[in-house]
Amino acid sequence: MAKKRLVIFTGAGVSAESGLKTFRDSGGLWEQYRIEDVATFDAWTSNTSLVLDFYNQRRKQVIEAKPNAAHELIAELQKDFDVHVITQNIDDLHERAGSKKVLHLHGEIMKARSTADDSLIYPMKKADIRLGELCEKGSQLRPHIVWFGEMVPEMEKAYLITEQADLFVVVGTSLNVYPAAGLLSYVKHTTPKWLVDPGEFNLDYIRNLRHIKQTAVNGIDELKKELQKNL
Ligand code: APR
Repeated sequence: MAKKRLVIFTGAGVSAESGLKTFRDSGGLWEQYRIEDVATFDAWTSNTSLVLDFYNQRRKQVIEAKPNAAHELIAELQKDFDVHVITQNIDDLHERAGSKKVLHLHGEIMKARSTADDSLIYPMKKADIRLGELCEKGSQLRPHIVWFGEMVPEMEKAYLITEQADLFVVVGTSLNVYPAAGLLSYVKHTTPKWLVDPGEFNLDYIRNLRHIKQTAVNGIDELKKELQKNL
């Protein structure tokens, strides 16, 4: 019997218990930086070294971080389900925990990209991208990240995966940033949905959704037990 398709849509909250800052929680990343200063293409063109440095710092934190139990439990669910992770996160913690199908909507911090040709993407072996480091076509390398205002090329693929979900789980995202946050409206009304997040949400407009008001580690553990009871 084919495994049910379990789609898990994650945000910064799933990596919070690995010590990586979320964006909008108090003390979040954006409180220390103005988004306009570091996460837009204009910031890149007007202050390339500041943007490179901002992502070099975040990349070091990702390299030093470890997947937490939530990433690991999500990877374990692959035994019983056809799990597709769709993440807004740019860290590689889902992959390092063993998740095989991971779609990054906002890019991947462990990859660099050519500024002359978007198809030239380079997995990074070291923590820094330096000014003057060039792609094979001789143009400056940039972080392989989707900045505010840039296209989100993986959205089409994300919609297709989501429309086929038998079960849909949202973990650790404030659902503030579109088009990613709009993914929830592509899930069939009849599909059972869960939201694992300690925050406050008003999602009465979404049918068949249960809010597990817990952190990712505790909430995914509770959810995994519930899902495995109904295998
Ligand atoms: N476990 C689960 N959820 C948590 C935890 C935790 N331990 N700690 C915080 N959260 C929740 C918060 O309640 C919040 O709903 O994680 C969410 C974090 O929300 P944001 O900081 O807005 O992060 P995210 O939703 O991923 O941001 C989306 O915005 O800044 C851009 O590109 C960036 O991908 C990012 C996008």
